[in-house]
Amino acid sequence: MAYQICINPDCGQRYEVDQVLHSCEACGELLDVDYEWDLLPVPESLNYFERFRFGSFGGVRCFSGVWRYYDLLPFLPLASLVSIGEGRTILQDAVFVSSYVGIDSGRFFLQYEGLNPSGSFKDNGMTAAFTHGAFVGAKRAACASTGNTSASLAIYAAATRLMEAVVFVGSGKIAYGKLSQALDYGAKTIQIQGDFDDALLKVRQVAREAGIYLVNSVNPFRLEGQKTIMFRVLDDLGWRVPDWIVVPGGNLGNASAFGKAFIELSKLGLIDKIPRIAIINALGANTLHQLYGDGEAGKLRWNGGRYDKEMVKNFYEKMTLESRKANTIASAIEINRPANLSKALRTLEFCNGVVREVTDQQILDAKAIVGAGGLGCEPASAAAVAGAKLLVEEGTIGKEQLTVCILTGHQLKDPNATVAYHGTDQNFFKNTLGKFNVTSAQFANKPITTTDEQNKILYPDR
Ligand code: F0G
Repeated sequence: MAYQICINPDCGQRYEVDQVLHSCEACGELLDVDYEWDLLPVPESLNYFERFRFGSFGGVRCFSGVWRYYDLLPFLPLASLVSIGEGRTILQDAVFVSSYVGIDSGRFFLQYEGLNPSGSFKDNGMTAAFTHGAFVGAKRAACASTGNTSASLAIYAAATRLMEAVVFVGSGKIAYGKLSQALDYGAKTIQIQGDFDDALLKVRQVAREAGIYLVNSVNPFRLEGQKTIMFRVLDDLGWRVPDWIVVPGGNLGNASAFGKAFIELSKLGLIDKIPRIAIINALGANTLHQLYGDGEAGKLRWNGGRYDKEMVKNFYEKMTLESRKANTIASAIEINRPANLSKALRTLEFCNGVVREVTDQQILDAKAIVGAGGLGCEPASAAAVAGAKLLVEEGTIGKEQLTVCILTGHQLKDPNATVAYHGTDQNFFKNTLGKFNVTSAQFANKPITTTDEQNKILYPDR
């Protein structure tokens, strides 16, 4: 009742659910997981899912904030689901941050994916990929990563022992919090010369040649898990559909999964309104913005699946010719060749979306506000908040519109960026942030260094 299908409408090639593929063998496009919904027990309304409230003793549907919505991603039997308790996240009514963004109090929410076992949204997808990988009998799993996918793969491998983890990361490109996770959880960690785009190219080749199960977001099963981030947002809003979802864009897996979630909910008659989506690039990794927005390349549109592939090809060729590399303090989204570009275009069309770019300065200022608001996030996540602020300023998001920003990763993932922003060490600031054109830290909470004179008063016995 589930199958894989090429998203290219001129191809539409179908594959069985137990085939391991990263793209369509006939035309090279991305694959979706799809369902014969008519033959499946689809709930009549979304509040059906309320019976699976969290708890460790109600089986996997209560233990996991992903599999709780199993009926909307039933690609394998219930008995085969793998879970380590992912998706037990919160939606914060972010009153303090809302005034920074310019949205009315009570209308602005942060979906905090940092609460996942490995501290990022990736676990939503990894539980689905592990379920599929284990089902097809894979013994090893691999990914390229800017850090969070590798941390997520590593924790699932360590906790479930179902597959061994091999991770490819760009050397010097990964925040320490994330690298420390991959090492601590025992993943085989390969640091390649180059960045994420190089690493993804490499790992796709290695996975194919060595028969290793690939868990990057070109794996369509992973994206099924990431749909549930949207289900939880709706759930926590009492099944209201927000006006806006704002999400950072890197490899564009989330944007793709969110769009698919709303396409399916709408098709199944479970929602009667489609939210708009805003995908936020970092200025230094802005391929989607260049292609979709008013950038140099033009206006690329999904166009019912017949998007302008030449435009993409030319853009990438130019990037190669100019040796242009992604560069941003938001290392998680430091990606110039987003693998899910086409699916993100589909999302943008269905959700009447917009794409914006924000500077590293805007990202770090927004990050400081999110921290001061009582959750905290890593730089890439703050891009969503900076983007929301921008969209309010330009009048695209109305101040009364119900808006949800996705905080994709935990505050502790990238301590260097945080300490450099808040700290008093000018050299550390310059070395860490200077190369990203971050020059000020207007929301810094500077630590206080005592003078010798003060120390004598504080510690008279020394
Ligand atoms: N935010 C964080 C914290 C991320 O780690 C990523 C992606 C994104 C946003 C972008 O999400 O790719 O779905 O558009 N990190 C990947 C990784 C690339 O390797 O960990 P996307």
